[in-house]
Amino acid sequence: MERHCAFVATFMLILHLVQAQDQTGFISVDCGLPPHELPYTANPTGLVYTSDAGLVISGKLGRIAKEFETDYTTPNLTLRYFPDGLRNCYNLNVTRDTNYIIKATFIYGNYDGSDNEDPNFDLYLGPNLWTTVSRTETTEEIIHVTKSNSLQVCLVKTGNTIPFINILELRILRKNVYVTESGSLKLLFRKYFSDSGRTIRYPDDIYDREWYASFLEKNWAQVTTTEVVNVNDYELPQRVMATGATPLNNNETLNITWNVEPSTTKFRAYMHFAELQTLRANDTREFNVTLNGNYLSGPYSPIPLKAETEVHVKPEQCDDGACLLQLVKTLKSTLPPLLNAIEAFTVIDLPQVETNEDDAAAIKNVQDAYGFSKISWQGDPCVPKQYMWVGLNCNFSDDMSTPPNITFLDLSANGLTGIITHAIKNLTHLEVLVLSSNNLTGEVPEFLANIKSLMVIDLRGNNLSGSVPPSLLQKKGLMLHVDDNPHLLCTIGSCARRREGEQKSIIVPVVASIASFAVLIGAFVLFLVLRKKKASKVEGPQTSYMQRSDGKSPQPAIMTKNRRFNYSDVVRMTNNFQRVLGKGGSGIVYHGFVNGTEQVAVKLLSPSSSQGYKQFKAEVELLLRVHHKNLVGLVGYCDEGENMALIYEYMANGDLKEHLSGKRNQFILNWGTRLKIVIDSAQGLEYLHNGCKPAMIHRDVKTTNILLNEHFEAKLADFGLSRSFPTEGDSHVSTVVAGTPGYLDPEYYRTNWLTEKSDVYSFGIVLLEIITNRPVIDQSREKPYIAEWVGFMLTKGDIISIMDPGLIGDYDSGSVWKVVEIAMSCLNPSSTRRPTMSQVVIALNECLPSENSRGGASRDMDSKSSIEVSLTFDTDVSPTAR
Ligand SMILES: *[C@@H]1O[C@H](CO)[C@@H](O)[C@H](O)[C@H]1NC(C)=O
Ligand SMILES: *[C@@H]1O[C@H](CO)[C@@H](O)[C@H](O)[C@H]1NC(C)=O
Ligand SMILES: *[C@@H]1O[C@H](CO)[C@@H](O)[C@H](O)[C@H]1NC(C)=O
Ligand SMILES: *[C@@H]1O[C@H](CO)[C@@H](O)[C@H](O)[C@H]1NC(C)=O
Ligand SMILES: *[C@@H]1O[C@H](CO)[C@@H](O)[C@H](O)[C@H]1NC(C)=O
Ligand SMILES: *[C@@H]1O[C@H](CO)[C@@H](O)[C@H](O)[C@H]1NC(C)=O
Ligand SMILES: *[C@@H]1O[C@H](CO)[C@@H](O)[C@H](O)[C@H]1NC(C)=O
Ligand SMILES: *[C@@H]1O[C@H](CO)[C@@H](O)[C@H](O)[C@H]1NC(C)=O
Ligand SMILES: *[C@@H]1O[C@H](CO)[C@@H](O)[C@H](O)[C@H]1NC(C)=O
Ligand SMILES: *[C@@H]1O[C@H](CO)[C@@H](O)[C@H](O)[C@H]1NC(C)=O
Repeated sequence: MERHCAFVATFMLILHLVQAQDQTGFISVDCGLPPHELPYTANPTGLVYTSDAGLVISGKLGRIAKEFETDYTTPNLTLRYFPDGLRNCYNLNVTRDTNYIIKATFIYGNYDGSDNEDPNFDLYLGPNLWTTVSRTETTEEIIHVTKSNSLQVCLVKTGNTIPFINILELRILRKNVYVTESGSLKLLFRKYFSDSGRTIRYPDDIYDREWYASFLEKNWAQVTTTEVVNVNDYELPQRVMATGATPLNNNETLNITWNVEPSTTKFRAYMHFAELQTLRANDTREFNVTLNGNYLSGPYSPIPLKAETEVHVKPEQCDDGACLLQLVKTLKSTLPPLLNAIEAFTVIDLPQVETNEDDAAAIKNVQDAYGFSKISWQGDPCVPKQYMWVGLNCNFSDDMSTPPNITFLDLSANGLTGIITHAIKNLTHLEVLVLSSNNLTGEVPEFLANIKSLMVIDLRGNNLSGSVPPSLLQKKGLMLHVDDNPHLLCTIGSCARRREGEQKSIIVPVVASIASFAVLIGAFVLFLVLRKKKASKVEGPQTSYMQRSDGKSPQPAIMTKNRRFNYSDVVRMTNNFQRVLGKGGSGIVYHGFVNGTEQVAVKLLSPSSSQGYKQFKAEVELLLRVHHKNLVGLVGYCDEGENMALIYEYMANGDLKEHLSGKRNQFILNWGTRLKIVIDSAQGLEYLHNGCKPAMIHRDVKTTNILLNEHFEAKLADFGLSRSFPTEGDSHVSTVVAGTPGYLDPEYYRTNWLTEKSDVYSFGIVLLEIITNRPVIDQSREKPYIAEWVGFMLTKGDIISIMDPGLIGDYDSGSVWKVVEIAMSCLNPSSTRRPTMSQVVIALNECLPSENSRGGASRDMDSKSSIEVSLTFDTDVSPTAR
């Protein structure tokens, strides 16, 4: 029997040694090792390290300073540092769905001679933050299951320090160990109990985990064995399992303490036990495990010479981040508790999934085909959004577990040569493709017609030849630009479609053709309106609450039960009409306070205003009835004979028109803020149409009726012309035409039939205004009416020159294009073919993420989003209230 055991033990040892030699699946990278250096074997581990050349496209080679060389050996001596770009990534070939240990070592070693003791940069695993490196010497380790066949380890600059890395190591673990329900395991510590001071790693540990020797406390005793401890699936090294610690005093607990930061961090502890002593018949070793005094698991008895791993199912947390793990002897136990080794990890979520794998592979192929190595083109193409590759845009869902898709590719003016690469074929979600101003040759490939989602192809300014494939010319909804390709033949219909001199832009889109039609009708109607109404403006009452924020943020209006005020109240609240906020068609707007602190805007109706009373009543009735965050709130009203006043919530930032015209501030509303404002407005309008019973039609949607509060949240104002449908069944009401020229729905004008779609039309004009920031009607323009002018420019294929030059190109063209598209559909001459406001809200919301995603891509990491900047301006820089 004994001989048999000895034989098994020897066999296992041999087996172990054989396994130990096997570095299959190991990736051991000595970062910064010059590319011509051959792989070498490092002592004492016997691990074979290779250079990082080919795994990263950027960075510079460095070496720790001479004075540090005595403290380290290879592979710690060399490093790679990344002075350029924000995100630099290692791209590693891995196996999908495999449990990996990933280790990264950072040793500053004064490599740059600047004695900078405080490195500080982020480490990302693919699109997710892994950790922040903030020590001069550290190894970070994570156990992570790969989601695809490639893995990116990215170093991200977050401040002034230049990211660097010395070693990158990957080891494959078996699948059934260190399993988590979700998240990956970031190592806190891993130790065994021995005074030897000896760190054990490969080849003793076949997975190359590093086991630090934890010195025994003075009231602990060392337990060891010379016999073989049978390992379990965790396959701990013999040297680790064959020693353990136990309290000297039989009744003492065995205490392990550590700290986690922040204190809410969830962690998992893995305790490895094996009985090393030979127990007598009447001996029992049994203990429970507690954490900060609370029962965790047990009772537990280590099995003689057999490793077992104890891990509790749920991640734990410690009060104040101070953890005290205790092994407590149970009553029946005659021996004190025993622990051989312990590991603790924090559980970190890596919620963002990588970009659609096919898209990511395709864009890499595009990159390879053109052989460019842009620093920004590293790591995941789409996420995290702030590091999205420059020239790309993606479709994101709110849910981080849906892979983003690449929808936009702009490689204009990148000096591309050769043909239009076939790799583009696999970008199956592409909506916009811009390859203009390069030196591309060859034919326009037919496969472009097969990318279903493509809406814009811009190939201007290349050296393409042959003829444009008919399938491309016939593709519905596609806008194709091929000008300035001297050798490109213009055949089959394309010439027939030529417009405006030499333009070779071919437009087949539904949108544009509808647009031009809409524009013609719109313009025609507009002229009718203008001719007929000339002097008698149909403009509704104008509200304008021009006032700077005076720093205090007004609370949302407190709705008092009785909102009818006496005229004397109005006099008091406006301090005898002291401060004028603005003048409108139907009266003057004053600043005031109710309840002493709540700021309000008080519109005093001039008795002379013709439609005054009717509109006044309409507005009071509507606003007393409806409440929505995107409709300006009515605090109260005054109706005392001649004295009529409306008391609104105060909107610190005035109206949208003022902001667009630049009258209000030096800074310009950026595209993202504009989008948010129109989304807010669209939601307000949508609520009027669908949230109110009976439905309401605003009838006077325009930029001066979109007001902004101190957070630049938009609310619709001025409901003086609003109408509700008398009964639910009716789809329209017949009324006398009212509204503002330029915003008026031509169909409504023609038929006097009012439907919600008239508001949709006006809203379309508002959209064109935020895009172009040009007057709705400008007689000096070649096409005076904005809708007509935009349609005209689009047919010329000129989307850039319709854009507000004040945006200085700082917008995402994909997002802008979508908004143009939405605006044009709102301006459809046939009201039934216009979208509903609900559809508009959804469509606009889809534009927002793609714009947000551009975020810091072109800006400094530290720069706040422009909205924040706007706010800072308004509250800090502008002079406070008079
Ligand atoms: C390299 O540095 C790491 C981190 O300080 C250390 O754990 C490791 O033992 C070093 N290896 C060598 C071979 O110097
Ligand atoms: C990664 O895999 C790709 C294709 O599967 C191969 O072309 C490339 O050379 C591999 N890279 C490394 C460093 O092994
Ligand atoms: C341990 O506790 C038991 C019961 O409380 C006691 O009888 C015994 O003397 C204690 N042993 C030591 C070594 O303190
Ligand atoms: C373990 O902690 C408990 C409570 O903090 C303490 O009473 C005990 O003396 C500690 N045991 C050892 C061996 O340090
Ligand atoms: C256990 O048995 C041994 C003899 O085998 C004896 O010396 C010892 O006192 C016993 N211990 C207890 C706690 O009964
Ligand atoms: C150990 O845990 C068991 C099971 O929860 C419990 O019954 C027992 O009282 C505990 N013993 C000690 C000493 O905490
Ligand atoms: C994003 O994807 C959704 C559905 O997957 C689609 O409806 C939407 O149009 C896409 N948005 C963009 C900007 O491509
Ligand atoms: C990306 O495209 C796939 C289909 O190819 C779709 O299932 C997924 O929802 C899209 N992702 C987003 C964010 O729209
Ligand atoms: C497109 O992707 C498929 C597999 O998804 C691949 O076989 C093919 O080679 C790719 N085509 C190009 C042109 O890259
Ligand atoms: C295109 O290539 C020609 C010569 O092949 C060169 O003269 C020209 O400058 C290139 N144009 C661009 C935009 O790179």
